[in-house]
Amino acid sequence: MSEKKILLLPGDGIGPEVMNQVEKLMNFLADRSSFSYSTETKLVGGASYDKHGTPLQDEVLTDAFNYDAILFGAVGGPKWDGVERTLRPEAGLLRLRKELDLYANLRPAVVFDALSEASTLNSELVLGLDLMIVRELTAGCYFGQPRGIEELPDGTRRGFDTEVYTQPEIERVTRVAFELARKRKNLLHSVEKSNVMESGIFWREIVTKLHESEGKNISLEHMYADNCAMQLVRNPKQFDVIVTNNLFGDLLSDCAAMLTGSLGMLPSASLGENNSNGFRRALYEPVHGSAPDIAGKGLANPIAMILSFSMMLRYSFGDKKNSSLIENAVQNVLKNDFRTKDIMQNGKVLLSTDDLGDSIIDELDKHT
Ligand code: IPM
Ligand code: MG
Repeated sequence: MSEKKILLLPGDGIGPEVMNQVEKLMNFLADRSSFSYSTETKLVGGASYDKHGTPLQDEVLTDAFNYDAILFGAVGGPKWDGVERTLRPEAGLLRLRKELDLYANLRPAVVFDALSEASTLNSELVLGLDLMIVRELTAGCYFGQPRGIEELPDGTRRGFDTEVYTQPEIERVTRVAFELARKRKNLLHSVEKSNVMESGIFWREIVTKLHESEGKNISLEHMYADNCAMQLVRNPKQFDVIVTNNLFGDLLSDCAAMLTGSLGMLPSASLGENNSNGFRRALYEPVHGSAPDIAGKGLANPIAMILSFSMMLRYSFGDKKNSSLIENAVQNVLKNDFRTKDIMQNGKVLLSTDDLGDSIIDELDKHT
């Protein structure tokens, strides 16, 4: 494998500690397989704001275009609550997504057998669950104009955002969902609120047309977002791939994450367009946030971050072998009853972030 240039953006809170675990893992893989890499680490989010007064420096953004892939930790925390919205830690992440045009956010929710008891749902409801949420990531009310908070003539104020989608924005994310559905169970749910919103009516119309022209062999169901939230906790195994807008995807993916037992388990990939030489810009990040309350205490679960790296191997570097080895190692570590605090159960062995990271490497050591 040619040397891969990877940009590391650990960010805030538990971001740096979980990123450390991936760095150990990359080092191990480079020793033991054809995986070859170089990294650079830069500031993002609150850490960047504290040092440079902005959550994402222009030069970091410009530089981000020069890497084969980006690994992102987490951003945010109460420390920056008082900061103006455009300078908040989250704004750094949103700007990266938008400027790199990472429109397709893949959020798999997979329940590992050993953890089916850790879910807040009955284990038989989630045992074997494997679903994929495809969240549109660069449009909708996250970026729609106009937005703001303003004073009205009568002296009261109002706050507003704009939910807006263009035809190409809906089509391109739907194509990604088609592609995934074809490789999986060929079942796709498109989720919106076409019973209430114009943008929802439009979403359904565009998905339906694209399905007729490009996705006939896929079985497509339309579902309202509120019903989808309810169905996710009622009978999650009815889903295979879900495609939805930015805001609904944000909500539904947290909900799906919890089905797996902990937010600490879920990785994600944010992908751009395939260019002519097959390269696709990509950022990989855990779905969990910066968890400032447990930061620096060795309590964080590194699995979502490690699985995000495994998605990088699969989607950016075509390295299915190492990607599967990592997934199996995670599975085995859980089978061996090792846990971090968020997924701890009676009779299991509680490990620190660092020790769980090491136990995943020990597992890999047996198989590489
Ligand atoms: C996510 C997060 C982000 C989002 C925040 C940190 C801006 O919740 O990736 O799900 O809302 O997209
Ligand atoms: Mg979220």
